Amino acid sequence: MPSLLGTTVIEHLLTTQKAHPEATGAFTRLLSELIVAAKIISREVNKAGLVDILGYAGRENIQGEQVQKLDEFAHRTIVERMAHTGELCAMASEEDPDIIPIPERFPRGNYVLIFDPLDGSSNIDVNVSIGTIFSIYRRVTPMPADPTLEDILQKGSKQVAAGYFVYGSSSMMVYTSGSGVHGFTLLPSIGEFLLSHENIKIPERGRTFSVNEGNYNYWSDEVKKIVSYFKTPDRETKRPYTGRYIGSLVADFHRNLLHGGIFMYPPDKKDPKKPLGKLRLMCECNPLSFVVEQAGGYASTGFQSILDLEPKELHQRVPLYIGSKEDVLIAEQFIKGEGES
Ligand code: AHG
Ligand code: MN
Ligand code: MN
Repeated sequence: MPSLLGTTVIEHLLTTQKAHPEATGAFTRLLSELIVAAKIISREVNKAGLVDILGYAGRENIQGEQVQKLDEFAHRTIVERMAHTGELCAMASEEDPDIIPIPERFPRGNYVLIFDPLDGSSNIDVNVSIGTIFSIYRRVTPMPADPTLEDILQKGSKQVAAGYFVYGSSSMMVYTSGSGVHGFTLLPSIGEFLLSHENIKIPERGRTFSVNEGNYNYWSDEVKKIVSYFKTPDRETKRPYTGRYIGSLVADFHRNLLHGGIFMYPPDKKDPKKPLGKLRLMCECNPLSFVVEQAGGYASTGFQSILDLEPKELHQRVPLYIGSKEDVLIAEQFIKGEGES
């Protein structure tokens, strides 16, 4: 008897788990707890403006950015909920300089969770979509020793699962565990994420480019040529690409995932401390690159696949060109000096 209200995440996980009998219930438990954390964050996001959850927490994070109260709330919610699942040996967050150990009082597991608790912070108090990005790896150092940075700094291609929540006109969860990309929409009245987008495939080529053109004067000539290419009416359709930039990576990415297009955060000379652009490899670029490749797209640093990058440090930044495969390959050609204007 099919369920009356569509397929819940757990039902969907159990069906895909049948395809992966080796997958224990660990991943299901992890994702279930992550969903509870996301529902709590989503509720706070929706209350933002009515309660004192807005504004700055009065401290800077490792990124040198002002931490918003909601950043801190989201970070704390995920850390506290995920610590007691018994499935993790360590966590890492955009909001914490170091590895986050699992407290002694909780059992340790075989997985590592890396996350951006709140993506799009600059949009928190203007009611624009924001989100949470997560990435799951298997630990590589032997139990029962303490986990090390080696368990955290793994190539994106080693992820066992990744995805994001977007808190917008509706709250959605999009994830992959290596068997395609699936989207679920929160039905607030029953508090369940229900399957709404099964087996998402990104169009081979899009009609949208997303980049912050405010950085134009800090870009290399190659980057300027990419953006000029997408703004030039192309030979077949005689139309340029449409420009769309929300300023929340999850929202820009999600639109391009569903409709096609390319999101770019190129290197710029604006801040000498951030020569490779603003986005973080471990908690933003790797998870979304896993999702986009599972959906048939591609993600590049401009020179190579993001998922093949050997991480050097926890909060390292990388240039990101991500979305429809043909569009990202065009961007790569320009970066490598092979593009045709
Ligand atoms: P976060 O809020 O986690 O720091 O991420 C913000 C990121 C990303 O969401 C977005 O694509 C980018 O910052 C926008 O940066 P600019 O304002 O420099 O364009
Ligand atoms: Mn972010
Ligand atoms: Mn963030």
